[in-house]
Amino acid sequence: MARVVGAEHIEEVRAKGLRHFELLPGDIVTSLAEEAASRLSIKLIEGPIERPTPHRTDGATMARRAMYRRAARWVAPSAAPRTEARRLKKLALIGAGGVGGNIAHLAANQDIADEIALIDIAPGLASSTALDLLHASGVTRSSARINGGEDLNAVAGADVVVVTAGRARTPGMTRADLITVNRKVICAAAEAIKSQAPNAVVIVVTNPLDEMTVEMLQATGFPREQVLGMAGTLDSSRFRYSLAKAVGVEARDVEAITLGSHGDEMAPITSLARIKGRALEAFLTTDQIEACRKDAVTGGGQVVALKKTGSATIAPAHSSLELIDHIRGARTGSVPVSVMLEGEYGIAGVVLGVPCHLGQRGLVSVENLRLTEAESTALKAAAEAIRTRLAS
Ligand code: LAC
Repeated sequence: MARVVGAEHIEEVRAKGLRHFELLPGDIVTSLAEEAASRLSIKLIEGPIERPTPHRTDGATMARRAMYRRAARWVAPSAAPRTEARRLKKLALIGAGGVGGNIAHLAANQDIADEIALIDIAPGLASSTALDLLHASGVTRSSARINGGEDLNAVAGADVVVVTAGRARTPGMTRADLITVNRKVICAAAEAIKSQAPNAVVIVVTNPLDEMTVEMLQATGFPREQVLGMAGTLDSSRFRYSLAKAVGVEARDVEAITLGSHGDEMAPITSLARIKGRALEAFLTTDQIEACRKDAVTGGGQVVALKKTGSATIAPAHSSLELIDHIRGARTGSVPVSVMLEGEYGIAGVVLGVPCHLGQRGLVSVENLRLTEAESTALKAAAEAIRTRLAS
């Protein structure tokens, strides 16, 4: 039946805030309607107007959409923007065992230095690793000059020296059990670095990490900026892995750091940790978070227990490379490093893992993070434990 469009229809669409009236085939439009349309600036449009097909959906999809609107899909942050990275003139590695050898491997593979010098007292170890790496250059196309030997003076002219030399733990040992034996190794390395590479940034990896970093500082007499301990990047990586495993996400979905000592007083910072951008409590119970903390703290020991003849090598090497990348400007932002504290976090006169900004000359600044009361207390307890161990 034909529809008669009167002024009231026009007034109705106007009341709804619309600016047009759709005429359908067969409609009879009264002159009053035309007059109302003109008066109210309503456009009469010949219909039917084509409309998009209605969105068909189901209950589950609707619920998911509503939830996503409230919690937008999280996207893993892309790598920090690339900056102009410096190529090292010379990277020297004192200790060419599992960690030193893997650092050399990564450094050569990523072609980050003009020269890589491997040094180890074990006859033939450094030279054989150097030759092995050179043999790989036909595939990797690394252009680094790589040499290996037993003489500590081969650190000469290095801009970064990584010290991994020393005894590693065997099952049942704590890192602190190595203080006496590894102190001598650090002192010998320090002598050579001081005389042959006085401007080098020194990264200490030898355990017990924090104590050996103090030894290196004292034996070289270098300013704190130049002597860094690598532990926080490793412990943070282990913590991120533990959290990712517990939640069933990828490690790259997790942001978390570990500060404090590289030992029993390690302090995974749960309050600042995020999984897909959200606090840990969104995914894990208090007990599960505690289990992840424990997993990170005992991570190194777990590898020692499985291996029986030494400690981890691959994760420590990658973590050392992370520090080198921060030093040469390939990575930006702060990174956990063991440095001598001068009042930061209320602690002074002891080496401890804290978030740091690094640059060509080593430490640029210590970042002041807002920690919980319990986390600050944990850092202070770690500092006291290191002080006590060094004194005994
Ligand atoms: C570890 C050693 C390197 O934590 O301390 O695996």
